[in-house]
Amino acid sequence: MNQTGYTKEVMKHFQKPHHYGRLNKYNGLGKVGNVVCGDVLWLYLNVLKNKNGQEAIKDISYETYGCVAAISTSSAISDLAKGKTIEEALKINKEQIIKVLGDLPPIKIHCSLLAIDALSEAIYDYLSKNKKPIPENLEEKHQKIERAKKVIEERYKKWTEKEKKE
Ligand code: FES
Repeated sequence: MNQTGYTKEVMKHFQKPHHYGRLNKYNGLGKVGNVVCGDVLWLYLNVLKNKNGQEAIKDISYETYGCVAAISTSSAISDLAKGKTIEEALKINKEQIIKVLGDLPPIKIHCSLLAIDALSEAIYDYLSKNKKPIPENLEEKHQKIERAKKVIEERYKKWTEKEKKE
């Protein structure tokens, strides 16, 4: 662990994030923001049938405008989710992410939730666009994330309007 409180693994993912950027071809997009700090994360998925005929994450990428923890957890979740079926990907939790990263300072745990939320929003987007059934807990989570987004939009409205005028 260095003096910032981050493990070597966190710093490795931060300095060379895996699967960073925007996919040319994607069928699921999750856009989330953190109400506490205002950081944002866009996560792209390309879902295709795997050889067992299940829908699985063939490709994943993200653009994260956030802190060291937000970027390294995005990178970790992209490794964890790639190749997983949709059901498996929805079960990825913060403990698994922390395991990949060695550890995270307690104050930064909320940052790992941003990546998890972005992944579930991208899956939600894929399912709803393809008119597939949406699990009840995913629907509830989506509603919660939508409410948080409104709070952020409201909070930054003055600032973004000012930007548009300039
Ligand atoms: Fe904003 Fe980490 S401080 S996501």
